[in-house]
Amino acid sequence: MPETPSPRTGHVYVSRALTDAAMRRLSELDVPVVVHPDPDRPPTRAELLAGVSGAAGVIALLTERVDEELLVAAGDQLRVVANVAVGFDNVDVAAAGRRGVVVTNTPDVLDEATADLAFGLLLAVSRRVVEADRFLRSGAPWSWAPTLFTGLDVSAGATLGIVGLGRIGMAVARRARAFRMRVLATGRRAHGAEAAALGVQPSTLDELLERGDVVSLHCPLTPQTRHLIDERALARMKPTAILVNTARGPVVDEAALVAALRDGVIAGAGLDVFENEPEVHPGLLGLDNVVLVPHIGSAGLATRDAMGLLAIDNVAAVLAGRPPLTPVTG
Ligand code: DGY
Repeated sequence: MPETPSPRTGHVYVSRALTDAAMRRLSELDVPVVVHPDPDRPPTRAELLAGVSGAAGVIALLTERVDEELLVAAGDQLRVVANVAVGFDNVDVAAAGRRGVVVTNTPDVLDEATADLAFGLLLAVSRRVVEADRFLRSGAPWSWAPTLFTGLDVSAGATLGIVGLGRIGMAVARRARAFRMRVLATGRRAHGAEAAALGVQPSTLDELLERGDVVSLHCPLTPQTRHLIDERALARMKPTAILVNTARGPVVDEAALVAALRDGVIAGAGLDVFENEPEVHPGLLGLDNVVLVPHIGSAGLATRDAMGLLAIDNVAAVLAGRPPLTPVTG
């Protein structure tokens, strides 16, 4: 391993090298495994289509578009596509379903790591950590001053609005409770017992936008949530508010966000995800009031091990004729 792709092998195709633990598990599968040979970049479309040709299983990352074309290129023997992510907006689940191909994702195992990063961005932007770091490194003269880099008092009753209270949102709510924040949330789970026990107040999106000192996005990307945070939504937020996005870039209209940050419509943003990854809107790069990281929400090493292992276990289960552990439906 890795082997050279050969047509009709019934192999498992892996679109990028996984962590060491996951690579070890892959080598224990009793089918041939073909791993995209360059660990530093996703396969090109042509490489991907060639790699999946004849595969019985595909382990894909969120950088790969799994659509009708890919399913056809793979062939009728394809039985499972395991996405190494909880989000599966890169996969045409309906097209897979029509062809009898099982699709799986990696829920649960990344909740805490992603919530940690969301909360890290919340704190970094609120307390202007990166901006202050850049200032200090610049060598500019400074002395302690009452107004130097003042920011939002997170623990003095600031209000957090969680858009899409799922598993990750709930993990963020637990952290917010420890910081004595007030928490508002949208989503079905906001009305449940777990949310109530955490003191989460169910809310409409508009109310949450208007009251939130921080608004953190945790909804999946669907046709309904694409550009959910647009110019109108941003205009509802407080001029002192901060937006955190560790969900999917296209949930936010990035051009509208740049304008809102530049014109003081909102105070800051912490972004892990971008509308056209790996591109970052050039307007964001010049702004001091944003913290930008390259889609690393789940990048705890143990978490990445767990994601890879779960994807492999899903493939192994389906190829052995057992039910998948974490299937998704369209
Ligand atoms: C996911 O799992 O959907 C993340 O975006 C990558 O960890």
